[in-house]
Amino acid sequence: MTGVDRRTFLVGAAVAGAASTGTARAATALFEHGVASGDPLADGVLLWTRVVTSEPIRWEIARDEDFRRVVKRGTTRTGPARDHTVKVEVHGLHSNTRYWYRFRVGDVVSPVGRTKTAGCDSELNFGVVSCANWSMGHFAGYGFLAQQDIDAVIHLGDYVYEGVYAVTPQLRPTDPPHECVTLNDYRRRHAQYKTDRHVQAIHQAHPMIATWDDHESADNSSSTGSPLHDPATEGPWGVRMAAATQAYFEWMPIREGKLDRSFHFGELASLTMLDLRSYRTDTTILGAAQRNWLINRLTTDNARWQLVGNSVMISPFRIPPAPGFPSSNPDQWDGFPADRELVLRALGDRRNTVFLTGDIHSSWACEVPFEGRSVATEYITTSLTSDNFDELLKVPPRTGSVLLEAQIQLLNPHAKFVELDSHGVSTVKITEDEVRYDWYYTADRKDPNSAVARAHSFRTRHNTAQTERVLS
Ligand SMILES: [Fe+2]
Repeated sequence: MTGVDRRTFLVGAAVAGAASTGTARAATALFEHGVASGDPLADGVLLWTRVVTSEPIRWEIARDEDFRRVVKRGTTRTGPARDHTVKVEVHGLHSNTRYWYRFRVGDVVSPVGRTKTAGCDSELNFGVVSCANWSMGHFAGYGFLAQQDIDAVIHLGDYVYEGVYAVTPQLRPTDPPHECVTLNDYRRRHAQYKTDRHVQAIHQAHPMIATWDDHESADNSSSTGSPLHDPATEGPWGVRMAAATQAYFEWMPIREGKLDRSFHFGELASLTMLDLRSYRTDTTILGAAQRNWLINRLTTDNARWQLVGNSVMISPFRIPPAPGFPSSNPDQWDGFPADRELVLRALGDRRNTVFLTGDIHSSWACEVPFEGRSVATEYITTSLTSDNFDELLKVPPRTGSVLLEAQIQLLNPHAKFVELDSHGVSTVKITEDEVRYDWYYTADRKDPNSAVARAHSFRTRHNTAQTERVLS
């Protein structure tokens, strides 16, 4: 315990509960957007908070939650140019090790966050999440994952929604109360999300490895535009995309630079995160540089498992004929067959790649087909709160969707499991022999204290590129 810590502790202990409540309230007010960590390396991690101050911000990271064994500390500053967000790159840590961290401005100390560096023993466990629509529900699934013993949370995008996708009346009104277009708009939307107690809880408990999808900028976005962007009234797309990018990097616990990046968990697994929006054009979902990098990673990395954080579905999806429905969704990899073919052909007979996917507000286990065989598996997590099929069709859960699920599987025999109705989160457990994937469903997205329970489980045995249901 340092001198300042001891003094704070003694002062805190000497006065009655009212004063310590006041201290806690001051910390909550000053650090109103919580603390976060992310992008774990074998020797370090990135720490995040936001604090409006011109004073120095002190940080420290320790091996224990009481900060008796502080291993690194330092000072940093922030300001309006980065919307008062704070990022600290910590290096020199041990691999595969839990740490606790906190920030301090003057006498006010932030909540304590917990994090973990990359590495592995005999197993790895991740939470997997996507599609958190503020106005459509509460984020009880995040709260559930905050309580789980996992190494990190993989966020596959739609962490924020730029629009006002109402459901009238909105369960929770968005801030700003209109679609985000400017830098200030996107900053306000991110700030609102980070006041949510479940968002704060998941960040406080685990490091996050995030990539974005379209709604961090605009619906079905690419480097060239979005169907919901009107340059005549909303200005040049490039300006808006730059604003969305800036706010995302400011507000997320992500190392500065780019979203396509890789993580290494010893010899057991590597995780390649894709950016399927920034380089997308009419003809490529990846862009040439990211495509070459991805293929190189998947074919030369020596880890036993290759995990890919992939915001939109890579397996083909033929949509059953229905009035008003297209036959396929060109926003996912189906719209970019040339890129998909290059990636899947490169996999050859490796059969150790697992795509972890979000975006389509439903739960899937697929054997990714290429030239008559399965070359990888794909597991898709459902939306945390965004409307899924029963809500789009305006029918009760497990009624109208059940027939549709059967039709989908008939048309898409590589889809071994499809569930169109539930919201929730997933976990993935990686061991030498198998990757196991569990879907956890939220009982009621409108209830901030909703129960969250395991509903379905599948696994892929090593070197099979197949999926099988697990009953226990
Ligand atoms: Fe979404």
